[in-house]
Amino acid sequence: MLSRITGSLPLMLSYCFCLMLLSIIVAVTVAVAAEELPPAPTTFKTLNGKLDLAPLNRNAPLVIAKGGFSGVFPDSSEYAFAFAASFHTSLWCDVQLTKDGVGICLRDLLMQNCTDITEIYPEGMKTYLINGAQKTGWLPVDYNMSSLRNVTLTQSIYSRTQRFDYSNFDILSVTGFISLIKPSSTWLNVEHDIFYREHGLNMTNYILSIQKLGSVKYISSPELGFLQSLSGGINREVNLVFRFLDKALSDPSTNKTYNSMLSNLTFIKTIASGIMVPKNYIWPVTSDNYIQLHTQIVQEAHNAGLEIYASDFSNDGIFPYNYSYDPLGEYLSFVSDGGFSVDGVLTDFPLTASEAIDCFSNLNTSRKMDHGNPLIISHNGGSGDYPGCTDLAYENAVRDGADVIDCSIQMTKDGIPICMSSIDLLATTDVQQSKFCSLLSVIPEIQTKRGIFTFNLTWDEINILRPKISFPLSNYVMLRNPRYTNHGKFLKLSEFLTYAKDKELSGIMITIEQNAAFMAASLGFDVVDLVSTALSHAGYNNPTTTNKEVMIQSRHSAVLVKLKQQKTQYKLVYTLPLNIEDASDSSVAEINKFADAVIVDRKSVFVESSGFIVRKTNLVKELQSAGRLAVYAQVFRNEFVSSPWDFFSDETVEINNYVLLVHIDGIITDFPKTVRRYKMNPCTGLGDGKPRSMKAVEIGGLVQKLQDKARPPARAPALVLKPSDVVEPPLPAAAAAAAAAAVPKTTGYSSPRSDAPPPAAAVTAISSTGILLGMVWVPLLI
Ligand SMILES: *[C@@H]1O[C@H](CO)[C@@H](O)[C@H](O)[C@H]1NC(C)=O
Ligand SMILES: *[C@@H]1O[C@H](CO)[C@@H](O)[C@H](O)[C@H]1NC(C)=O
Ligand SMILES: *[C@@H]1O[C@H](CO)[C@@H](O)[C@H](O)[C@H]1NC(C)=O
Ligand SMILES: *[C@@H]1O[C@H](CO)[C@@H](O)[C@H](O)[C@H]1NC(C)=O
Ligand SMILES: *[C@@H]1O[C@H](CO)[C@@H](O)[C@H](O)[C@H]1NC(C)=O
Ligand SMILES: *[C@@H]1O[C@H](CO)[C@@H](O)[C@H](O)[C@H]1NC(C)=O
Ligand SMILES: *[C@@H]1O[C@H](CO)[C@@H](O)[C@H](O)[C@H]1NC(C)=O
Ligand SMILES: *[C@@H]1O[C@H](CO)[C@@H](O)[C@H](O)[C@H]1NC(C)=O
Ligand SMILES: *[C@@H]1O[C@H](CO)[C@@H](O)[C@H](O)[C@H]1NC(C)=O
Repeated sequence: MLSRITGSLPLMLSYCFCLMLLSIIVAVTVAVAAEELPPAPTTFKTLNGKLDLAPLNRNAPLVIAKGGFSGVFPDSSEYAFAFAASFHTSLWCDVQLTKDGVGICLRDLLMQNCTDITEIYPEGMKTYLINGAQKTGWLPVDYNMSSLRNVTLTQSIYSRTQRFDYSNFDILSVTGFISLIKPSSTWLNVEHDIFYREHGLNMTNYILSIQKLGSVKYISSPELGFLQSLSGGINREVNLVFRFLDKALSDPSTNKTYNSMLSNLTFIKTIASGIMVPKNYIWPVTSDNYIQLHTQIVQEAHNAGLEIYASDFSNDGIFPYNYSYDPLGEYLSFVSDGGFSVDGVLTDFPLTASEAIDCFSNLNTSRKMDHGNPLIISHNGGSGDYPGCTDLAYENAVRDGADVIDCSIQMTKDGIPICMSSIDLLATTDVQQSKFCSLLSVIPEIQTKRGIFTFNLTWDEINILRPKISFPLSNYVMLRNPRYTNHGKFLKLSEFLTYAKDKELSGIMITIEQNAAFMAASLGFDVVDLVSTALSHAGYNNPTTTNKEVMIQSRHSAVLVKLKQQKTQYKLVYTLPLNIEDASDSSVAEINKFADAVIVDRKSVFVESSGFIVRKTNLVKELQSAGRLAVYAQVFRNEFVSSPWDFFSDETVEINNYVLLVHIDGIITDFPKTVRRYKMNPCTGLGDGKPRSMKAVEIGGLVQKLQDKARPPARAPALVLKPSDVVEPPLPAAAAAAAAAAVPKTTGYSSPRSDAPPPAAAVTAISSTGILLGMVWVPLLI
């Protein structure tokens, strides 16, 4: 039995990859306080449960690591297997045979897809007929094991880092892999038995010859005939699993389509003890990428006495919009939230699957939450699923459990403060397709490119425009739910205040951006006064009537200084410039004069180079201790490209590390649901006894695993915040839209935020080509 999470057993030292470097094993054990209680066991509706692997969670589904942790390291490499083994997964090896009959672990029969063989044997390309289809490439049947010694494994998915290709990982033989890693559970997957037979190689004989290696627990194949050929000689402890592929394809050993074989599960049960199906057999996906109601196949398999495993999970694949790019949510719908549980999941990111099973299944969602740390602050409402700052986005944020909802103030031509994420209507609405499309102008104080600005249209005019969902990560063609792209209605500040008043929120946050000075000088709007008036009007100046904390946020100190001078009772929140990594004592003292809380960019907390974390700064700690300031970080997003590789393309991992490593006071997010779910998990409070999937990452751990020549460029020295970055001239008095209005100096940091919505033209280009384009991940981080 394995030490998964139980208190008395030795624990891994930390969440480092020390296991991976098998030559330098750091065998430190930490005794766990005996009085710490593990969370109540969760029961899963699996067929039998995997008791050998999950002493804590009874009947827990199995996590099967495809080629190891292939989401980060090259598939079937030593690092990939060693890292995945540390989560007590079953390690999946795709067995291929060399010319001299040696079994090797390799994800693809076409070696050019997962190795550097084209460079080693440039002349080796051949064409073969495989299961009736012509395939061209480099195949293992043409090479003996010793001639593959110089071929190394490479990352085959373009959206992942290719930097580990420089690590020269050897191709591992199946027996070599088992003796190197010593897995507690090995899963061998065999495809192309018929093809190998045509080349004089006997896969049945090979598998039977190595099954005595104790850890082989599962053998799967999409060729039923192959499993049948094993059934005479295989150990009873080994489970045979029939793997379904695409429904329209045929099993070459029976010449029946997988779809037709689905209707005869009792027959399959005579040969196999389980089946593995692509995940869309269970939750079908429409052509426009939404999930439909689940099928009955899990129940049918269980009724037939078959275990059922689901395949094709990864954190960086294409997600149906229903999952909002949240891989953890997807697992939950397969193991608990659908009212059933598969017996295992095959994944490139075993950490996320373990986390889902260990800490997030069957959460009691009716549990009432306090508004404790980290505070969940929406970013333009729940803008990950709906157009930002619309009624739908705010309703979504409240439903998903935000503690605080936010309104970013813009002004209309008729002087009405409204909530909108951008001053430029091109970014937030379909104004370009409206009769107002001619109102383009360049206003250098705001932005260099042409825009149609909120203050050029009246509220009634803006109100007839249709809101547009934001695509902050459009460089990667990751679209947000197109079904809602033109839905919802924008709100005036007064409407927002009325809406928030009776909701179960701890507070609201009003953002007054850098444009306040321009508004006052050029347009004659005193935004600060307009906001104060609206707040008193709605009763927020009397905390006993609303019971809500009001926060006012700005990246311009002059706005907050003015409010401070008015002896405001509201909480003043200062947004630090980008790229700051450190704050001098004197600058913290300046901030203390006008702010109660500070917002920092995520990259000021964990400094990245080429998407790898290179260091953690002390900024949050300095602000919290020296300044006694609450510190919130922004902007958190589910889309995997928005966070560094070190968080394994899992937003929950990112949140967990801000809580464990920097004790962040609040998280500003497009997806409040992900943070709320995190706050409900029972594992965070377990201290050292928490499951490995919930431990903090080793800062810089991934970079250290890279070869020198593959390391990302060194970062420039840290930018330290100075008092002169903080202090600003006071806001100009509001004048009637004056000519030569004096615009205050802009600080060196007022460049457009990296998370500003993309120009409208880019978005149109994306939506017109639709989801197909979505398959082409452009890896900017490489
Ligand atoms: C494997 O390589 C072939 C030819 O280079 C390519 O067409 C195919 O899409 C690749 N498959 C995968 C899974 O990478
Ligand atoms: C392996 O293949 C290489 C190249 O074809 C050949 O030179 C070598 O003798 C073979 N080795 C064995 C053990 O068959
Ligand atoms: C492998 O590479 C080494 C060094 O580059 C070379 O000497 C050797 O001949 C190569 N072996 C094979 C089998 O190609
Ligand atoms: C392959 O090996 C198995 C088991 O050793 C044997 O029963 C079978 O006859 C062999 N097949 C062929 C085609 O040689
Ligand atoms: C399946 O079809 C192929 C090609 O037509 C044929 O060679 C093979 O014998 C068939 N197999 C079975 C089990 O019918
Ligand atoms: C299931 O498959 C077996 C073997 O091919 C066949 O004998 C049996 O009739 C099938 N049953 C059904 C319900 O199709
Ligand atoms: C997925 O989202 C679509 C669009 O909102 C909805 O119609 C569908 O019912 C959702 N699927 C499930 C299983 O809830
Ligand atoms: C869920 O939480 C509610 C409210 O705290 C509680 O009344 C209920 O008993 C809990 N349900 C379970 C199954 O623990
Ligand atoms: C928008 O408003 C600004 C400020 O009043 C003005 O300078 C600009 O000309 C207006 N743009 C258009 C196209 O009306």
